[in-house]
Formats: sequence, structure tokens, C-alpha cells
Amino acid sequence: MPWLSWHACELVNYRLKPAITFLHCVFLCLSVTTLSGSSAKMGSISAQPRTMRSCSADGCQECPPSAVATTRPYLRTALARSVYSKILVDEEFKNFDRTKWYKVNVEALEPEADELFLELDSADAETQVFLERCQERSDAVFTQLFHLVARTLLAPFVSQTSINGILRRGSMFVISDRQFRKLFHLADDYRAERMLDLGAGDGATTALLAGMFDNVHVTEMSWPMKRILAARGFTIEDVEGWSQRPDGYDVICALNLLDRCSRPLTLLEQMKTALKPNGLVLVALAWPFRPYVEFSATGDHQPEQVLDIDGQSFEEQAVSMMRNVLKPLGFRVVSWSRLPYLCEGDLERTFYHLNDMIFALKLD
Ligand SMILES: C[S@@+](CC[C@H](N)C(=O)[O-])C[C@H]1O[C@@H](n2cnc3c(N)ncnc32)[C@H](O)[C@@H]1O
Repeated sequence: MPWLSWHACELVNYRLKPAITFLHCVFLCLSVTTLSGSSAKMGSISAQPRTMRSCSADGCQECPPSAVATTRPYLRTALARSVYSKILVDEEFKNFDRTKWYKVNVEALEPEADELFLELDSADAETQVFLERCQERSDAVFTQLFHLVARTLLAPFVSQTSINGILRRGSMFVISDRQFRKLFHLADDYRAERMLDLGAGDGATTALLAGMFDNVHVTEMSWPMKRILAARGFTIEDVEGWSQRPDGYDVICALNLLDRCSRPLTLLEQMKTALKPNGLVLVALAWPFRPYVEFSATGDHQPEQVLDIDGQSFEEQAVSMMRNVLKPLGFRVVSWSRLPYLCEGDLERTFYHLNDMIFALKLD
């Protein structure tokens, strides 16, 4: 009976698309009254991805609303509590000022960094499309429950990235093609021959940029992600051999990879050799900078090479990345910015977000 109720709610939700909050309420009522036995176990299972967390700092004005409710009704089941907390966060997010995702404290910047900073448009259409898809997917309660159980069963054997690939969940959003062109000051009809996206994940962001290129190449470590990338029609390059291509790339992206790979400095050097003359490089890095190598040979998840990034604040770390890492390696910053790094949610959140520093680069 409880499973039937879940399924019924989900079907109504998907087929008729009536007011989502109303359906959540129906679902809550059903789960509060009928699911106490079966879902009580959910409380012990973490549904939160390892790398994507909402900021929980008290009174933080920059993050979307947290799910911490000061008062809430007594809900008997963990599942009901999750769904209720998601409804609260979604409601608060409607009033959240999204420009905060894109702003930095310019007063904390040195003049050079201030000059190169470019604030992106918070009303980006692709970002909105992604958020709407997150809503749709996280509201599919039955699927989310399946993911929750499957993730728990797979976790001892497979990396988090590969689990997401197997379950086709946890897609990420970094940048749209419009935002890409804006950062490099390119015309709306910009086109080039070949792009390479290093550590492309499931290729969700790659696909948004792919329309500007005749050929799209990617690298990945995770085999389920490679399968998704191949199905999207991207050419998969070897993680060791990609930089030896004789004809080079017009654009190379390394989005949220430098803190996830073991040898980020070698990777940046290889990007220089694989780039065509006048080629463009796009680097995104999550703040705060916390390296974690999922596929480490030693198993300690620590990188062999550490990027010299100091400071605590977003601005300090971004400036330090430009001054201590990119400049000494011979990269010139065309512009840099701040973006929300978005990830599809689950039963607890419609989406998760981190802050990305993003650098549009050319070679000196
Ligand atoms: C945090 S995800 C970023 C995915 C995507 N670029 C994005 O920004 O949403 C990092 C990805 O890099 C992959 N990865 C890690 N080390 C790599 C390496 N040395 N070469 C290629 N991919 C790697 C991981 O499997 C993972 O999918």
C-alpha cells in the first residue's frame, strides 16, 4: 500500500503537472500516515552528495536558503521530514536574489583583479532550464528512493562519480554558451573547429558548449561517465595521451577538475602544448579549494601536486590562483568571474550548489 501511494503521487505529479506544492502536501499526508515502518530506515542513510553541500553558515546572505527550519510540524518519518524540508527550501528559493551567486566583494580585490573581473548575468536562460529540470527530477520521488537505495548498495564498490554515471543522476551545470562567449568577449556567432573538455563528467556542460564547435573531444576517468559521453557523440581521448595530438585544440576546458586530479600542474602544462595558437582555455575551480582525488593510485585521495592557493575568502583564493598558479605558468587572464556550480538534487534538496571561480585564459 505505501509503495502504491508513492507511485500514485508520482504519476499524478508527472502526468498532470498540477501545483507542485499541493502534490507535495498530498504526498506528505500519505507518508506521515502510512510510511512510518518502511521509511524510518532512511534516516540513517545520507542522501547528500559528498562534494555538493549547501552553506550552513549562520546568517549567510550569499547562499540559497538552508533547510534549517526554526519551527516545523512533528513528522514521524525521515522521508516526510526530507520532503517537508525540501518544500521549505524551494519556497524560500523563490525569493532568493540570484545576483548574489555572481557577485564578489570588489573592495577586497587588487586593482588588476578588479579590472579583469566580469560579473555574469544572473538571468541566464540555460541556468534557469537546468534548475527547472532539477525540480522535475527531484520531485520524482519513486526514482529518488530507488537512487537512494542503489547509491547505498554501490558505495562500497564504486566511486561516487561512477555511481552517478550508472544511475544517470547528479548532473552538473557550470556555464552556458552565452556566458562562455561573454567571458572571452566573443561574438554571438563565434565558431571554432575543435574543443576539448577535460574531466567532462556526464558531459552536461560540454553539451551546452558543443554547439560552437565542429568536433568535441573529452577525457574522463570514470567508465560509466565515458559511456554517457560516447552516447552523446563526443570523441573520447585517452587521459594520458590527449596532449600529444599534432593539430591541437581551439578551446580546452578544465571545469572543476584541477582539485580532483592528482597532477594539476602537469595538466596545465599539457594544456599549453595541446592548444592551437590563439587558443582559449577555460578553468573552473570550486571554492573553497579542497583537493580530493577520487581516483588516486595510493588510496589516500591526496594529490601528488598541490596548487599554491592561499587565503580563505573567495576573492583571496581567486586572486591567489591567478597570481601563484596561472600567471607563473604563462596564462594570461582575459577575464574571471564567479558562478554557481549546480548539481541535481535528491529527496532533500531540489539542487545543490557550490561557488565556482572561473577563469577565461589565453597563452602569453
Ligand atoms: C568534479 S567532476 C567535474 C565534471 C564536469 N567537468 C563539471 O564541471 O561538472 C570531475 C571529473 O573529472 C574526472 N577526472 C578526475 N581525474 C581525471 C583525470 N586525470 N583526467 C580526466 N578526468 C578526470 C572525474 O571522473 C569527474 O568526472
